[in-house]
Amino acid sequence: MSVSASAENSRSGLLPIVVLASGRGSNLQALIDARDAGALPVEICGVLSDKPKCQALQRARDAGIPTFALSARDYADRASFDQALFARIAEFSPRLIVLAGFMRILDPTVVAAFAGRMINIHPSLLPKYPGLHTHQRALDAGDEKHGSSVHIVTPTLDAGPVIAQAQITIQADDNAETLAARLLPLEHRLLCACIALIARDRIQLAADDWCYDGQHLQRPLQLGADGELSSR
Ligand code: GAR
Repeated sequence: MSVSASAENSRSGLLPIVVLASGRGSNLQALIDARDAGALPVEICGVLSDKPKCQALQRARDAGIPTFALSARDYADRASFDQALFARIAEFSPRLIVLAGFMRILDPTVVAAFAGRMINIHPSLLPKYPGLHTHQRALDAGDEKHGSSVHIVTPTLDAGPVIAQAQITIQADDNAETLAARLLPLEHRLLCACIALIARDRIQLAADDWCYDGQHLQRPLQLGADGELSSR
């Protein structure tokens, strides 16, 4: 998509976004469905992946969204891969980059170049359990609550300011699979609700900071049973 097309999107009130995904793409699908239902004022300009055969890319193609994939094995190191990926992203002129199940650590240089314009959804109540195996780690720790977080991407993995969270209660008979399965639909609502507030300029992002209706909050917004985010 050309820069001028993205400028047109801005004029129409739609937030131009690019989504990065590595696998199943159910979060991407939730964004597509919410957009199609008129609940998410975004233009999904492109979906990019490090896994050329992943389901997320097929979902994007099925929705008529431009896709782009590159394989890490074609690049000498992380920095050169990320530079190629983010050069392609820049061609879409997104105002927001959404990591929706993108399973690569990013080079700090590219993160810095898009500071305050990139969010990630992570399946834990950050700052608990950055990295992998979050469901099992919550179970092993005997936690009562588990959940998912949307945060600003900063150079340190899963450590950026947390904007919003969805919580579930861990049940006695839960295992990692049941926890993940119960959390996933909430992740979808969390990501959609968060991006909707950004698109409507209710959430303002900065490099290492965010505001809700112009105010700094003491804790992340919380997803309610109604699917809305609130500061209570
Ligand atoms: C989601 O659970 C998301 O929170 C997680 O990957 C899954 C993607 O599912 N992200 C991470 O673990 C990032 N560290 P999807 O491909 O079906 O959207």
